[in-house]
Amino acid sequence: MKLGVIGGSGQLGSTAAFLAGVKGLVSEIRLVDINENLLKSHVLDMNQALSAESNVRVAGAGYADLAGCDILLLAAALPERSVSSRNDYLKGNVEIVRGVCDSLKNYCDGKIFITATNPVDVCNYMAHSFLKWDRNKFIGFCSNDTLRLKWAISGVLNLGFDRIEALCIGEHGEGQIPLFDQVFVDGARKVLSPEQIVRVKELIGNWFADYQKLQSGRSPGWTSAVGLAAVIQALVKGSEKALPCSAILDGEFNERGLSIGVPCRLGKNGIEEIAQIKLQDQDEKKFRETAAKIRGLIRSGV
Ligand SMILES: NC(=O)c1ccc[n+]([C@@H]2O[C@H](COP(=O)([O-])OP(=O)(O)OC[C@H]3O[C@@H](n4cnc5c(N)ncnc54)[C@H](O)[C@@H]3O)[C@@H](O)[C@H]2O)c1
Repeated sequence: MKLGVIGGSGQLGSTAAFLAGVKGLVSEIRLVDINENLLKSHVLDMNQALSAESNVRVAGAGYADLAGCDILLLAAALPERSVSSRNDYLKGNVEIVRGVCDSLKNYCDGKIFITATNPVDVCNYMAHSFLKWDRNKFIGFCSNDTLRLKWAISGVLNLGFDRIEALCIGEHGEGQIPLFDQVFVDGARKVLSPEQIVRVKELIGNWFADYQKLQSGRSPGWTSAVGLAAVIQALVKGSEKALPCSAILDGEFNERGLSIGVPCRLGKNGIEEIAQIKLQDQDEKKFRETAAKIRGLIRSGV
């Protein structure tokens, strides 16, 4: 399968492309970006590096070249700045998504479409509404929230990351919902104490503000590359295990008309199944509130 990355000169697009190349997840990677010289420098540099690592080759591309790709990753965005919420990018980034989708329509139909551009839930829904491909093709990338939840639990319990399973659903933003009844250590259900839950919530809750305070002008591209590689691998090879993705719901979780983080089984058709899980009362309440919030954001971005 071939991967096309729109916004391939950026932090997220380039790191995701590089890791997909190192891992040999796809046969070829095509990068599109308006910053052409930066794109050329990435293509030269990555091809040299990848010669030593895999058979995957990277090419600079235009929209017509994306017709030959099976999976598209949207990472085009306004430049990163210090913000209080990912929703601060909504207006500008929805316009970028609109422009990208207008260009894609001329060449592509029914591709698997991963949205990374923030705010992810809104941008994923808008991409679907602009392109009108089947909803199962649209995968909003939100698994960094689950990775950070596992990282926080691993720190609080002082256990290796690999021993922990956990799941965060909801908005990729302030409306994220860590499911503390879905924490497992070595495959066995683990009940965290109230003090441990408070500590984990502090770690994941403070993370975004602390990162923004650095004013680095770069998004967390390395974490995203790891998560996106897992998504691409699941799409190419199929996955038994559900991954958290922002999916366009049409009745699942009793919601419709939005994209929101839920557990999804991925395969060659995109989202092959949305796993239905029973939510605890307080999580269910927050899920409804968050869904209403995202629908409001979608209306404001139209
Ligand atoms: N979903 C997640 O978990 C997650 C994680 C990290 C970053 N992000 C988001 O991903 C997006 C990209 O982040 P980044 O750090 O790579 O930003 P970046 O500024 O490094 O890269 C964005 C790239 O998009 C390009 N671009 C802008 N408009 C374009 C257009 N119309 N067509 C083609 N290319 C265009 C720019 O030239 C730039 O190279 C942001 O919205 C960021 O917030 C999401």
